[in-house]
Amino acid sequence: MTRRRAAALAALLTVAALLGLAAAAGAATAPVTAQSALGVTGNDACFHCHGQQDMQNRTIDVGGEQQDIFVDRALYDASRHGGLACTSCHIGFKPGLHGADETQAWLITAKLTACDNCHADVFAMYRGSFHGNLVFGESSGKAPVCADCHVAHNITPPGSAAFRASIDSLCARCHPDQLKTYLDSYHGKAFFLGDAKTAVCTDCHGGHKILPPSNPESMVSKHNLVATCAQCHPGANENFAGFMVHVDPQSPRSSFAVWTFYALYIMLIAVVFTFGFVHTALYIYRGIKDGLYRRNRHG
Ligand code: HEC
Ligand code: HEC
Ligand code: HEC
Ligand code: HEC
Ligand code: HEC
Ligand code: HEC
Ligand code: HEC
Repeated sequence: MTRRRAAALAALLTVAALLGLAAAAGAATAPVTAQSALGVTGNDACFHCHGQQDMQNRTIDVGGEQQDIFVDRALYDASRHGGLACTSCHIGFKPGLHGADETQAWLITAKLTACDNCHADVFAMYRGSFHGNLVFGESSGKAPVCADCHVAHNITPPGSAAFRASIDSLCARCHPDQLKTYLDSYHGKAFFLGDAKTAVCTDCHGGHKILPPSNPESMVSKHNLVATCAQCHPGANENFAGFMVHVDPQSPRSSFAVWTFYALYIMLIAVVFTFGFVHTALYIYRGIKDGLYRRNRHG
């Protein structure tokens, strides 16, 4: 190293040290909170544009859908993620108009992979689920990802009443047939009447490890079903768990036994009504013949 270079380096180091001291002094006056440690103060820069309700061109095209770029600060700050920097999910975004390198593939990061950085256990479960397999396989786009169920900027505690109340309609977006049969069942009717303790889709299927009933690891497999019901019905046994949840009585493919019963029931009703109708018709006929309805019968 030449002497001139060494001198320049020393000068640089001195400047850097002075700057460091100044920064430390500044930090000492502003108390470091858990929030600023997470980088929340940096969110001011994002809210500078995204927090403006009256900003121009408020919608952008996200995967063919028009999305609002306004982010409600009050909602965000009150959410479970209120302490997180925007950039923990929008990795690499800078405060300012965004270049292509930032916006390219941002949706995948924000909706899916960023969550993995902080919720690895849940992510692993989801990855192995039926939905996770679809998302990472060829049918990506058809199954729900993390933020579809939890809502990007307003993450609420999953145990809260509001979240529970939203689950059935959430699943119904893609499983309308099962919603219909569920609503016909005891739990569905109770849910409709506002019973918060009754079973919703995810109580029986789980949220992250959803698997088809044929998979032994599924919460609704033959092997696990009793335990699943026993969460809320402590005395549940195999007989009890045999109570059918998604059964469409009008379809023989849904449950042949129930359909047979339903068909016999409908036939019985038809027979009873036909008999009643014929009986009444004959009765009236006989009445007419006998002159029962003639005026002044005795006159
Ligand atoms: C100068 C105003 C401004 C600031 C500051 C700003 N944004 Fe943006 N942002 C925009 C505008 C305008 C759009 C829509 C057009 C575009 O994509 O550039 C946008 C779009 C976005 C999008 C959608 C991506 C897309 O496809 O366009 C995200 C995500 C986003 N911003 C996050 C952030 C984050 C995080 C910050 C803070 C680090 C931030 N923005 C700061 C103006 C801003
Ligand atoms: C937990 C992860 C996460 C955090 C933290 C987060 N976002 Fe997002 N953000 C998302 C996801 C996921 C989407 C896509 C929403 C969708 O398509 O449904 C999104 C979408 C956006 C968009 C595009 C418009 C829209 O709503 O689709 C903007 C703008 C944006 N975020 C800004 C912000 C700002 C500003 C902050 C900080 C106050 C922030 N985000 C914090 C996950 C996050
Ligand atoms: C199909 C809807 C759905 C999807 C997709 C989903 N979740 Fe959940 N999440 C739930 C439900 C329902 C709960 C409530 C607890 C339960 O039933 O497992 C929950 C609970 C949670 C919790 C808090 C409780 C816990 O189990 O630790 C976290 C954190 C969470 N989810 C993160 C994620 C992440 C990260 C992803 C993506 C890898 C994700 N979720 C995908 C529905 C979903
Ligand atoms: C930078 C880390 C970080 C990232 C990224 C992140 N989270 Fe979180 N998340 C947290 C923290 C911290 C909490 C606070 C609750 C806690 O202590 O578990 C939380 C809470 C939650 C909760 C509520 C759990 C409860 O029991 O109330 C859900 C649901 C959740 N996150 C989902 C997501 C989803 C979905 C994504 C991706 C879109 C995501 N998180 C991305 C750190 C993160
Ligand atoms: C009380 C527990 C319970 C509830 C609540 C429940 N399910 Fe199921 N689900 C089951 C059982 C058990 C099976 C497997 C046997 C069967 O099909 O009846 C199943 C099967 C399924 C299947 C596989 C295909 C099929 O029809 O067999 C889907 C999809 C499904 N449920 C979605 C849902 C949705 C969506 C909801 C909420 C609207 C829901 N489930 C509510 C217990 C439940
Ligand atoms: C964005 C769409 C979407 C949402 C939302 C969604 N699913 Fe699915 N789900 C799918 C697709 C696609 C499949 C695979 C095709 C099929 O079998 O219907 C699937 C498969 C399933 C299966 C296995 C089906 C079988 O035939 O055995 C179950 C169980 C299931 N989902 C339950 C749920 C539950 C419970 C919820 C709500 C927490 C939910 N799904 C939300 C798209 C979705
Ligand atoms: C999240 C809790 C929860 C789960 C899980 C659950 N149930 Fe229920 N179930 C309820 C509640 C609450 C009632 C209403 C009880 C009341 O109001 O007296 C109920 C009522 C019933 C009833 C009618 C009343 C009775 O007690 O005979 C049947 C049958 C039933 N459940 C079957 C099942 C079966 C089968 C499973 C498993 C596949 C199951 N439940 C899983 C909460 C649950």
